[in-house]
Amino acid sequence: MIGRIHHLGYVVRDLRSAVAFYEEVFGMRHLQTEMSEEQGVLAARLQAGDVELELLQPTNPDSPVGRFLARRGEGMHHVAYLVPNLERALEELESREFELVDRQPRVGLGGRRIAFLHPQSAFGVLTELVEERGE
Ligand code: CO
Repeated sequence: MIGRIHHLGYVVRDLRSAVAFYEEVFGMRHLQTEMSEEQGVLAARLQAGDVELELLQPTNPDSPVGRFLARRGEGMHHVAYLVPNLERALEELESREFELVDRQPRVGLGGRRIAFLHPQSAFGVLTELVEERGE
């Protein structure tokens, strides 16, 4: 049901300096920076070998990521796995009574279809499912 890790999501206070760090010090390729009004974040994607990093800077302190930053500080936020069929994965998880943040797929960063599984159902790790599109 679950494929490889697609990306890791980190919360940062200052996206520009975080992107500069990963580009200049770690030599990663900056793929895209995107504003999501819906999620209240400015997000950057970087290529880290076979996976991506997703850096998230909250633009609104009342957004989920803004509250995360205030409560826990910068750092690891979520892990995202590829799944071949997102609806099927969500049905399966729901039928096993796992707690979903999203019962239906929604459009995430980069225009991908995604859904989140609640950390309470994944041993404390906020888990994102990303639908594969031919990779
Ligand atoms: Co993500």
